[in-house]
Amino acid sequence: MSNVSTMPCLPAAGDHRDPGFGVYVHWPFCAQKCPYCDFNSHVRHAGWDEARYLAAYRRELDSVAERTGRAHAVSSIFFGGGTPSLMQPATVAAILDHVAQLWSIDTDAEITLEANPGSVEAERFRGYRAAGVNRVSLGVQSLDDEQLRRLGRVHTVAEAMTAIEVARRTFDRFSFDLIYARPGQSVAAWRRELAAALAFGSDHLSLYQLTIEPDTPFAALHRSGKLVTPEPEAASDLYDVTQELTEAVGLPAYEISNHARPGQESRHNLLYWRYGAYAGVGPGAHGRLASAGAASRSATSTIRNPEAWLAAVESAGHGFSEEAALSHAEQADEMLLMGLRITAGLDLGAMAALTGRVPSQTTITRLVGDGLLLPPVEGRLAATRRGRLVLDWIVTELATSLVPRMASTMAR
Ligand SMILES: C[S@@+](CC[C@H](N)C(=O)[O-])C[C@H]1O[C@@H](n2cnc3c(N)ncnc32)[C@H](O)[C@@H]1O
Ligand code: SF4
Repeated sequence: MSNVSTMPCLPAAGDHRDPGFGVYVHWPFCAQKCPYCDFNSHVRHAGWDEARYLAAYRRELDSVAERTGRAHAVSSIFFGGGTPSLMQPATVAAILDHVAQLWSIDTDAEITLEANPGSVEAERFRGYRAAGVNRVSLGVQSLDDEQLRRLGRVHTVAEAMTAIEVARRTFDRFSFDLIYARPGQSVAAWRRELAAALAFGSDHLSLYQLTIEPDTPFAALHRSGKLVTPEPEAASDLYDVTQELTEAVGLPAYEISNHARPGQESRHNLLYWRYGAYAGVGPGAHGRLASAGAASRSATSTIRNPEAWLAAVESAGHGFSEEAALSHAEQADEMLLMGLRITAGLDLGAMAALTGRVPSQTTITRLVGDGLLLPPVEGRLAATRRGRLVLDWIVTELATSLVPRMASTMAR
């Protein structure tokens, strides 16, 4: 595997010291549970009372605003799931209206909704657009019907292609997800499938290697030897092909699994990776809250079970199961975990400003020497392509080497 010495730089989406303020809305329901998925997603054949859920989302947003104050300007809103394309457009509109009552929303805010091709209808998509959604992210997963069946998906390739066309016609921006490194997938087969995906000409793609998540049906099959994922070397070859093909069409990776034409990166995900503050509402959502102007973050997470979350919000005004101020050391660890995922790297000056510490120069020099980190440029620390394959290990090395540093003493 080659060592990349020049990494694409992210465009300046505002001051990199201010990643913006985001709102994440988790919709917990899916038409069917995919056997590989451990997202907080639930099937309710009897349906759900959407008006009741809407009232609960509003109340939980109010609770977040009480904690953060109203001085934030919202730069991105993300409806994730689960399958948010099962929500009524009127529900999405009402949630967006409520966010706008609590905080100001930037005129160019990115408002994304995740959609499953099995629940895409042109009329519904027009409804989302009228509500204010300007970007959709489609879970296509594969362009092979047999593979979709094995992944337990509810849709066919033809339906996915129709969804892509509807998304293209309806929204300014769209992205879709594929899962690769599937059982038995050869490099040649992935090359063909990825080339076909790139031919759709989307400006953003999320390309995830299949992960065997504990306690999923895939984990049981994997344990019993009935589902065999590629060995690390084969997976690394598939990863290399992914970089080669996407770079060739001007869609380089800006994060481990995310590719975009420069300027078309997901602002919401960048906000996470640049350690911005965000509200997280809905069952099983995580948030990182900060009062406007305050640096320190506090972590929130909410009850995962939809009905239990609903009952908690109705009685207490929120469904938080955890609400904790993060220490400087915890924030430093999180910044390392997040910031090294992106090719533009971690802003060491921002890290010093927020946490009063940075990784030791000795450790950085050693990891640069090992070909896992790039020499810092303008105070940004980035992993090489090889380093991104062993990121957890690098993060541990850096996290155990932290030394005190004031922002003003950072060389930029
Ligand atoms: C919340 S889902 C996207 C929207 C919708 N729920 C869907 O599946 O169509 C987020 C994405 O995570 C990816 N994903 C989920 N579980 C995964 C796993 N075990 N391995 C790799 N990718 C996974 C899939 O590509 C999926 O599209
Ligand atoms: S539709 Fe998406 S969120 Fe729902 S189970 Fe499948 S992958 Fe998970």
